Amino acid sequence: MSSVLDWSEPVEPPSTLILTQPSAADIAGPDPTGLGAIARGAARVRVDDKAMINCRADVNQLLPLKYRWAWEKYLSGCNNHWMPTEISMQADIALWKSPNGLSDDERRSIKRNLGFFAASESLVANNIVLAIYRHLTNPECRQYLLRQAFEEAVHTHTFQYIVESLGLDEGELFNMYREVPSITEKAAWAIQYTQHLSDSNFATGTADTDQAFVRDLIAFYVVFEGMWFYTGFAQILSLGRRNKMVGIAEQYQYILRDESIHLNFGIDVINQIKAENPHLWSEAFQEEVRGMLRSAAELEAAYGRDTMPNGFLGLSAALCEQYMHFIANRRCVQIGLEPVFAETENPFPWMSEAMDLKKEKNFFETRVIEYQNGGSLDWN
Ligand SMILES: [Fe+2]
Ligand SMILES: [Fe+2]
Repeated sequence: MSSVLDWSEPVEPPSTLILTQPSAADIAGPDPTGLGAIARGAARVRVDDKAMINCRADVNQLLPLKYRWAWEKYLSGCNNHWMPTEISMQADIALWKSPNGLSDDERRSIKRNLGFFAASESLVANNIVLAIYRHLTNPECRQYLLRQAFEEAVHTHTFQYIVESLGLDEGELFNMYREVPSITEKAAWAIQYTQHLSDSNFATGTADTDQAFVRDLIAFYVVFEGMWFYTGFAQILSLGRRNKMVGIAEQYQYILRDESIHLNFGIDVINQIKAENPHLWSEAFQEEVRGMLRSAAELEAAYGRDTMPNGFLGLSAALCEQYMHFIANRRCVQIGLEPVFAETENPFPWMSEAMDLKKEKNFFETRVIEYQNGGSLDWN
């Protein structure tokens, strides 16, 4: 956005203050919560005091900005604001209720897809609020996390709205992550990386705990939001491109736009932590992370076989597995790792266009969208 003011210049307090006053950290010790005793009269925060993790600078002071990329993502998220209830579900309701409107394979895939996302959006939100937020000790990153948390609430709202509109069994859908093994396996895989972080006794500050934090970031940002969501998007958007379930497809279009920023924020966070703490990114740890991405792709392939046993509309479990390999390799490169799979073509090039192009146009043409200023979807 061109109207954004530049707030990146550090505001220097009078030099005598710097020289004579103890820092906030000297007075109060590291306070990642921002809720500890106020460091009265401590030196003002300088840009160089700020850090991604284990920071001793005051987390209540957004300015001076150190990580402009985090602030930019916060602004992009705000520019992309949308609400699910603005999208008409009339065509979807008619199609869903019509006995011959959809094949059994399509219905099975749609329901499992909705079931996966319905609980996953809450899982991601809980991970942000109860695990990530506390340990990411930078106020501009926290500003983005607060925006992201709201967006996850909007996404969860989307599944409530779909269930209500189509008259689906809410118990069946929201319990799928506990009752459908291919979905449970994915949720359980991710939860193992967040469980101990949400423990109030967990603290970063050693190589082991810092690596545990980075593992959680990779599990949720790179794998959950950055790999698994993409098969789900491909399934629904493939239906939308063929004029089926166009309301849900439009909602997924907006979720994808949000998620692509979530993913890119996560990648920036991981890379910044690596740059500030190079000892964490050891050869052994890199191998471990590559193993995480490999096993995550295998879980997704199993999910693909479960949700699309026969394939439909140009989609199949085999193509989705190939897509996961393509995406996993891309994620590896984004966080500075060697690819985990043999080089493969993107079987869904239209998904790549959807993520990479800048111009906004509502492909499904159910309504006109004017929110967007800085997003990244195009549906030509
Ligand atoms: Fe989400
Ligand atoms: Fe997300």
